[in-house]
Amino acid sequence: MLRDIRKQYAIANLNEDEAEKSALSQFKKWLDDALQSAELEPTAMIISTVDASMQPHARVVLLKEFDSRGLVFYSNYNSHKGKQIETNPKVSALFLWQSLERQVRITGSIEKISEDESIAYFKSRPLDSQLGAYASPQSEVIANKAFLEKRFETIKLQFGSNIQKPEHWGGYLIRPQSIEFWQGRPNRLHDRLFYSRLADDTWKIERLAP
Ligand SMILES: Cc1cc2nc3c(=O)[nH]c(=O)nc-3n(C[C@H](O)[C@H](O)[C@H](O)COP(=O)(O)O)c2cc1C
Repeated sequence: MLRDIRKQYAIANLNEDEAEKSALSQFKKWLDDALQSAELEPTAMIISTVDASMQPHARVVLLKEFDSRGLVFYSNYNSHKGKQIETNPKVSALFLWQSLERQVRITGSIEKISEDESIAYFKSRPLDSQLGAYASPQSEVIANKAFLEKRFETIKLQFGSNIQKPEHWGGYLIRPQSIEFWQGRPNRLHDRLFYSRLADDTWKIERLAP
């Protein structure tokens, strides 16, 4: 029965005296732990965007860069998410690192990265991924699978191995406004540290009840 599935969390703590003062440093620490853990897809994050009718939409994307600006992933600017971001540049990102009994929840604003940065990343991708990005009109209704396979082959013939980044494809940067770190603890008394960014780019840290 679903209702009988229950797990005790106990492998780690998250205490104020050990936590980093900056949410970005704390995130880097946990990201490094995740990269070294048994997680199958440690860079997978769930991005939520809200459309014009206030309906939220969530989907997985892969984190490709993390630095002092924030988190970068790549996508199709004409996709549903791309259109939702144009209407409302407020997003959330969520990481679930199950083997570490950790969740990270990020809120913030999102913007496109520079064309140069997107081109550099596009060029670093394997050829088949480049072709795939070109071939797929992401989020559009298509007649059948063969449509996509045919487009892929046509573009392959057209460009060979010298394929340019499509204009409608590139990176998005999420600038975090808040980051909550959740560490599972016994008896459902989990640790939650909530960081919010202040005007001077320092972070306020509060403990939230689980
Ligand atoms: C593990 C995994 C990784 C994914 N990575 C990406 C990604 O980096 N970029 C992307 O655009 N879609 C990625 N997707 C597909 C998205 O979840 C989604 O189907 C697609 O972006 C279309 O979303 P939209 O119609 O809401 O715009 C990934 C899906 C999975 C399951």
